[in-house]
Amino acid sequence: MTPRAADRARYDRATAHLDAPVAVVDLEAFDANAADLVRRAGGKPVRVASKSVRCRALLERVLAREGFAGVMSYTLDESLWLARAGFDDVLLAYPSADRSGFGELARDPKLAAAVTVMVDDVAQLDLIDAARAGGTEEVRVCLELDTALRLLGGRIRVGALRSPLREPAQLAELARSVVRRPGFRLVGIMAYEGHVAGVGDAVAGRPLRSRAIRLMQAAARRELAERRAAVVRAVRAVAPDLEFVNGGGTGSVQHTAAEDAVTEIAAGSGLFVPRLFDNYTSFSGRPAALFAQPVVRRPGVGVVTVLGGGYPASGAAGRDRLPVPYLPEGLRYDPQEGPGEVQTPLLGSPADDLRIGDKVWFRHAKAGELCERFDSLQLIEGDRVTATVPTYRGEGRTFL
Ligand SMILES: Cc1ncc(COP(=O)(O)O)c(C=O)c1O
Repeated sequence: MTPRAADRARYDRATAHLDAPVAVVDLEAFDANAADLVRRAGGKPVRVASKSVRCRALLERVLAREGFAGVMSYTLDESLWLARAGFDDVLLAYPSADRSGFGELARDPKLAAAVTVMVDDVAQLDLIDAARAGGTEEVRVCLELDTALRLLGGRIRVGALRSPLREPAQLAELARSVVRRPGFRLVGIMAYEGHVAGVGDAVAGRPLRSRAIRLMQAAARRELAERRAAVVRAVRAVAPDLEFVNGGGTGSVQHTAAEDAVTEIAAGSGLFVPRLFDNYTSFSGRPAALFAQPVVRRPGVGVVTVLGGGYPASGAAGRDRLPVPYLPEGLRYDPQEGPGEVQTPLLGSPADDLRIGDKVWFRHAKAGELCERFDSLQLIEGDRVTATVPTYRGEGRTFL
């Protein structure tokens, strides 16, 4: 039996009492992935990216491990919810325009002490001040740096369109605006190099493309390391008691951690290891999160149809955003239909061994988005479900 066939047998046994659709997390794989992130971070703390987990019980599980510290959250509403639930170090990694959330933050000392918000523009500080509604608590602020690589005098940009702040002087200027302004405290700098951390450099069957990506990423890492160090020096000159410099993501942990200027690493996808994180030379994790759909009919030889399954991931639309049929090995989509809203035909010889009611296991393209489709996760140890925990959605929280 191949390791994948053994996993399938295990997941089928563990969930025999449960009808599909069902989502599972294999805790042995999850814990091994967590340990690998910590190892790669080389002694710097790993801040867990909550968007890539979206389940409080699993956030608590990784934060109980040595080597993890703090949450990187994705909306202000979520950040306040987590802080109220006892998470005491929450870095909101994206600017927010949630006025009522800022009002709550500025009125509550516990929330204001736990949550740090992201800023890259004075207009965001203005919005927060206008939203305070009498709240006088100091708002903790982190500045975001643009990490993109610019080539040919800026005509080519490699990297996400995020912060407009690129040069040390620009960040130092905004840092001065923050420290001069009553009601704010500058505590951190964040720089996420998604073009290194979130782009696989070992794409199966694409050796030339993979080599081009590796060259680009090496150049991007060199350029950013220098600029990030200069930015941190410039901002520290304005705010000497800066608490942290956050960088990186699952695909870049060891490279980002090697920069002296960086004090902590962000990562989340490396826990579930979804399909988009298969093609990296920097690490190989174990798929830990899967979902199963039930076989509901058999249209003919070499084809079965499962219920639902059309759970595409965010990002530029393409085949790589689709879930991948994983177990049994060897099933593929019908190119005419793909994974459907209510049913998904699957082609391939393994279809002939599947019966009505059997489970087909899939991997999502991204990590936490899977949890927007399921109320709960079945946590598997060995061949048993040992706990059932709610996702954010299962707690009635659909932040994005
Ligand atoms: C600011 C920031 N840091 C880090 C990450 C990396 O997260 P992950 O490890 O889940 O890919 C992301 C992902 O988009 C991000 O936006």
